[in-house]
Amino acid sequence: MTGPKPVTVNDFRLARSRNQRLGVLTAYDYSMAKLLDAAGVDAILVGDSLGMVLQGHPTSLPVTLDEMIYHTKCVVRGTKRAMVITDLPFMTYQLGPMQALESAGRVLKESGANAVKLEGGVRSREIIAAVVGSDIPVMGHIGLTPQSVQGFGGFRVQRDAEKLIADAKAVEEGGAFAMVVECVPAEIVRKIREVTTIPLIGIGAGPECDGQVLVIQDMLGLYGDLAPKFVKKYAQLGEQITLAVQQYCREVKDGLFPAEEHTFH
Ligand code: KIV
Repeated sequence: MTGPKPVTVNDFRLARSRNQRLGVLTAYDYSMAKLLDAAGVDAILVGDSLGMVLQGHPTSLPVTLDEMIYHTKCVVRGTKRAMVITDLPFMTYQLGPMQALESAGRVLKESGANAVKLEGGVRSREIIAAVVGSDIPVMGHIGLTPQSVQGFGGFRVQRDAEKLIADAKAVEEGGAFAMVVECVPAEIVRKIREVTTIPLIGIGAGPECDGQVLVIQDMLGLYGDLAPKFVKKYAQLGEQITLAVQQYCREVKDGLFPAEEHTFH
């Protein structure tokens, strides 16, 4: 087989001891996945953030497992090197290990993803263990877990160090190969690093994490409904799209498009 060597869970597991930082971004469709893969991301997360940035919901709660599988299939087709990780959406694992195993199994079997991500620390330890016990790799997610937005009373920075440390330990004990740490002060992340060995993938969790993840629409300037402090906009594609579409509309109305070179004879 030719082509780039695919990134695997083993590369993630070893990243921390090798002092390698991991670059992760979300994607939800074929053409974006192809671009991110060719640009060299280590993993593509098919996040349930798609409920907000693709579907226009105020939270990720309405997203279904079938929708996650559909988007993951599209991403897998566009990916040669990056590992593909898919979020288990709200209420597809919270009922317990059996439900989690069934959902994670469907994701791997039907979509071709390499791993699943699920939220929660102490409360998810047994769930993670059950899924990992069936050889389905799990990425954990602690801190601001968006599926708990109603319980948190909004999207807020999480500052309870004792709880966060207990959650991080539980995710590692459950057998996760890595964990997302979201909206946690850098000082607490440092403490979490002291008591864990798996890579921490930060989002709003400071520079000491072993990797970073961002929602692609946020970092490309394509989504403006929320503007979290932790997002760096690497491009302003929203503005470029507006300009391009305005020019297109003008040219159609003025009879300038299509021109001779776009016309069949
Ligand atoms: O759903 C998502 O995109 C996520 C990332 C923000 C980590 O969980």
